[in-house]
Amino acid sequence: MEMDVKSASVVDVYHALVGSVVPRPIAWVTTLGPTGVVNLAPFSFFNTFGANPPVVVFSPTLRRDGSKKDTLKNLEHLGEFVLNSAVEALAEQVNLSSKEVPPDESEVTLTGLTTLPAARVQPPRIAEAPIHLEGLVRQIIPIGAGPISANLVIGEIIHIHIDDRLLDGNGRVDPRRLRAIARLGGDYYCRSTDLFEMPRP
Ligand SMILES: Cc1cc2nc3c(=O)[nH]c(=O)nc-3n(C[C@H](O)[C@H](O)[C@H](O)COP(=O)(O)O)c2cc1C
Repeated sequence: MEMDVKSASVVDVYHALVGSVVPRPIAWVTTLGPTGVVNLAPFSFFNTFGANPPVVVFSPTLRRDGSKKDTLKNLEHLGEFVLNSAVEALAEQVNLSSKEVPPDESEVTLTGLTTLPAARVQPPRIAEAPIHLEGLVRQIIPIGAGPISANLVIGEIIHIHIDDRLLDGNGRVDPRRLRAIARLGGDYYCRSTDLFEMPRP
């Protein structure tokens, strides 16, 4: 199949991209609304891009009607977030938290999850998640103005919590203990259980 992006539909381009750029890690983001409602949503347009300072980028796209998602609005307003690790044991809750609910309702209540205060930012952490990255928004770069157009949220991580039970003998996160999930095309996810090691040359 050949796809000329200019003449293809946005939805077809979207499916070609998310089916091809895989697996994608999941930023499971808590933010705070202007009236204090805790928002929780997953974003697989996500990665980390450097460690000094530690930088992450994720993209709450515009909705198909062109409106901004609650996470984006909250980040524009307060500029603080927590990334909670999306792990196999919480897969159902990760998915459920993607439901479109009105801004005055919390996906934390919807999913039955609980929260813990963060150390350095106002949005709380999801207590059940074993890793939390607390961050400040450095920049938000919109790219495009129509449906499914990107909003690159560039964040600096200022505090990291890792459950000690995830650590190996060297104090590093053991992927076999973390059991992260990631996003593929369609409604597919993958587990991180089929691992192999390859030392760097
Ligand atoms: C695993 C997963 C990954 C997702 N990744 C994204 C993404 O990268 N960008 C996006 O805009 N929406 C993504 N979504 C959809 C959002 O989670 C959904 O629109 C959510 O309602 C946004 O919440 P909010 O309006 O509270 O910010 C994803 C959904 C799931 C289940």
